[in-house]
Amino acid sequence: MKIVVLFAVFCLSLVQGLDNNDVNMIVSFATLDERATSVLAPFVCWSVYELSTVAKSLRDAGIATAASLQPNRPEFHLQNLVILADLSCRGTDEFLIKASNEGFFKSPYRWLLLSRDPAELDILEQLLMLVDSDVVLAQKRSEDYEFIEVYKITENSELIYNTRAFWRSTNNKSKMNTTRNEETDTALVIEDKSTSIAIVDTEYGIIEDYRKSKVLSRRRMNLRKHILVMANVITDSNDTRKHMDDRLNLHQDSITKMSYMVVKICFEMMNSTEKLQFSNTWGYVDKNGSWNGIVEMIIKKEADLGTLTIFTQERMRIIDYIAMVGATGVRFVFREPPLAYVSNIFALPFTGAVWVAVLVCVLACALFLYITSKWEATMGMHPMQLDGSWADVLILIIGAVLQQGCTLEPRHAAGRVVTLLLFIALTILYAAYSANIVVLLRAPSSSVRSLQDVLNSPLKLGASDFSYNRYFFKKLNDPLRKEIYNKKIAPKGKKANFYSMKEGVEKIRKGLFAFHMELNPGYRLIQETYQEDEKCDLVEIDYINEINPWLPGQKRSPFKDLFKINFIKIRESGIQSCIHQRLHVGRPRCLGAVNTFSSVGIMDMYSAMLATLYGMLLSPAVLLMEIAYKRLMVIREKKRMRQDKY
Ligand SMILES: *[C@@H]1O[C@H](CO)[C@@H](O)[C@H](O)[C@H]1NC(C)=O
Ligand SMILES: *[C@@H]1O[C@H](CO)[C@@H](O)[C@H](O)[C@H]1NC(C)=O
Ligand SMILES: *[C@@H]1O[C@H](CO)[C@@H](O)[C@H](O)[C@H]1NC(C)=O
Ligand SMILES: *[C@@H]1O[C@H](CO)[C@@H](O)[C@H](O)[C@H]1NC(C)=O
Ligand SMILES: *[C@@H]1O[C@H](CO)[C@@H](O)[C@H](O)[C@H]1NC(C)=O
Repeated sequence: MKIVVLFAVFCLSLVQGLDNNDVNMIVSFATLDERATSVLAPFVCWSVYELSTVAKSLRDAGIATAASLQPNRPEFHLQNLVILADLSCRGTDEFLIKASNEGFFKSPYRWLLLSRDPAELDILEQLLMLVDSDVVLAQKRSEDYEFIEVYKITENSELIYNTRAFWRSTNNKSKMNTTRNEETDTALVIEDKSTSIAIVDTEYGIIEDYRKSKVLSRRRMNLRKHILVMANVITDSNDTRKHMDDRLNLHQDSITKMSYMVVKICFEMMNSTEKLQFSNTWGYVDKNGSWNGIVEMIIKKEADLGTLTIFTQERMRIIDYIAMVGATGVRFVFREPPLAYVSNIFALPFTGAVWVAVLVCVLACALFLYITSKWEATMGMHPMQLDGSWADVLILIIGAVLQQGCTLEPRHAAGRVVTLLLFIALTILYAAYSANIVVLLRAPSSSVRSLQDVLNSPLKLGASDFSYNRYFFKKLNDPLRKEIYNKKIAPKGKKANFYSMKEGVEKIRKGLFAFHMELNPGYRLIQETYQEDEKCDLVEIDYINEINPWLPGQKRSPFKDLFKINFIKIRESGIQSCIHQRLHVGRPRCLGAVNTFSSVGIMDMYSAMLATLYGMLLSPAVLLMEIAYKRLMVIREKKRMRQDKY
C-alpha cells in the first residue's frame, strides 16, 4: 500500500502541473482567430482541479470544453474542434498514434500539442500530419510559448516547422512596444506592414502573429517539388502523349488535353513536379466489383487527379470530384429531317375549316347550276348545253374542281355567272395551295425535339464507339431509353450501331441519322468536313442527362483543398476560359441560311407520286369496266332487236 502511494506521489511529481501561464496560453490560442471553437481534451493527465481551471477560463472566454470526441455530433461542427494534448503526459504517444491511424490529423480537425521538453518531439515523426492538417506545437521557452506549425508533405518526407506566433504573458510587457488600452479592454491589434507581424494584445497574453495569411491552405501551397500524378485517358490515338499541350491534332482526345492544360497550371502553382500516366478508359466497375482505367489508378492512390469524368453514383462513392475545368457533352446530333419525311405535306394545308369551305362552295354552285340548267332546258335545247339533269352538273363540277373544263356549259347569263364564280373560287384555292406546298417543301420539321420524338421519327440512330457510350446505353433503364436502345441502336439479331467518329459524322451529313457523340471533337469534324449549308439544321438532344464532367481526385486527399483553391483561382483569373476558348468548338453556325438552294427529291413528292400511281393502276380497271359495260349494252341491244323481229 505504501509503495503504491509512494509511486503515485512520484508520478505526480514527474508531471508538471499547469500554471497560470499555461492556462492563459491555451485560452489565447483558442481565441486568436476569432472563429467558433470548442476545445476537447480527450487524453490529458492533468488533475481534476487543473482541468476545471482550464475549462473555467475557457468558458469565461466563451469557449466550450469537452472531454471526449463525441462521435455523434453533426459534421459541420468538426471544423470547430481544437483537440488538446500534453506531450509530457504518459501514454500520450499511443493516443496520438491511434488518433493518427483513425484519420484525426486530417482536415478539419485542429490540434494543440503542449510541449515543455524538445526530447518529447520524436513522436511527431510517426504521425500522419499532411498538408491539410492543422497541428500547432506550443513549445515552452522559459516563461513564453512559441506556437510552431508542424506538417509534412508525404508520409515519409521530413517534418516542416513554421513559427506561427509567440505568446507572452501580460505581466512581461517590457519587451513589447505596445501600450495596452486599459480603459476599453478590447484586444489591440498592431500590424507591422514591413514584416507582416500582427501583435494581438488581450487580457490572456500578448501574441506576435507571424502568419502571412490566416488561411491555412494558402500557407501550404509550396509542395517543394513533391511529385503529383495526373492520369489521362487516351481513346483516339497514342500520339496524344506527345501533343498534350502543343495544340496539334486537336480533334484527338480533346477533353484530355483540355483537362491537362488546366491541371498543369495548378501543379505549377503548387510548386510540384508533374508526372503523367495514361490509360485508355475512364473506369467502370466489372462484375467482381473491381475498377479499371483512371478510376482504378485514383483508388489505388497511383494518381492524384484524372481527366474530366462524368458523374455516376458508383464513382461518387469511391472518388471525390474536385473541380469543373472544361465543358463538353455527349448528345445525339442530327440534321433536322425535312417536313416531307415526317408528314404528308400535300394533305397538311387542308385543315378542317378549309374542307368545309370548299365543300360549301362546290355544293352551293352545284345546286344553283342545277336550277339554272333546269330552267335553260325549258327555254330550248342545244348540243353544248346542260340538259337539266344532275349528271351533267356533276360532270361540269368535277371538271372545274380538277381544273379541266367541260364541253357542256350554260348558255344564259344566270348559269354563266354561277360557273364563273366556281372557276374563280377554285383558281384562287389552287394558287394558295401551290404557294403553301412550296413553303412546306423547304420547311424544317421542328418535329424532333425530345427522345419520344426520336423514337417515333424515321431517324436512324447510332453512337460513337467509346466505352462510355456502351456503358450508358446499357445502364440507363427507364422504359423510353430502353426502347430506344433495343429498337434503334442495338436491334436484336443485328449488329449494334456503333461507329467511329468519322463514319458517324458523315452519316449525319447524309441526313436522317442521329449520332450520339462527344460534342467537342464531333463539332470540330463537322466544321472541317461539311458544306456551309449543311451546318444549318443541326439539332442536339440529350440522352444520358448529365451535367458537365469534373476532375476526379482521391477521397479525402490531403491536397484536395489546395487543388480546389487553385482551380477556382485559375477559373477566376480567366485562364480557364481562355483555354476553353482555344480548345472548345461550339455548335457550328451557318452563314446564308436564307438563300440556300434546296432541291426537291422523290421523298418530298412521295405522296403525290403515290396518288398518280394509284390513278394509273386504277385506269385500266376502269377501262375494262367500260368495255364490259359496252359489250353488255350491245348484247342487250341485239336481244331486243331479235325480239322486235319476231
Ligand atoms: C520577461 O521576458 C524575459 C525575456 O523573455 C524574461 O527573461 C523574463 O524573465 C520575463 N519576466 C517575467 C516577469 O516574466
Ligand atoms: C521598440 O521600438 C523602438 C523604436 O520604435 C525600437 O528601437 C526597439 O527595438 C523596439 N523594441 C522591441 C523590443 O521591439
Ligand atoms: C519550390 O520547391 C523547391 C524545392 O523545395 C524550392 O527550392 C523552390 O524555392 C520552391 N519554389 C518556390 C517558388 O517556392
Ligand atoms: C496505344 O498503345 C497501347 C499499347 O501500347 C495499345 O494497347 C492501345 O490500343 C493503343 N491505343 C490506340 C488508340 O492506338
Ligand atoms: C473475377 O474473379 C474471378 C475469380 O476471382 C476471376 O477468375 C475472373 O477473371 C474475374 N473477372 C474479372 C472480369 O476480373
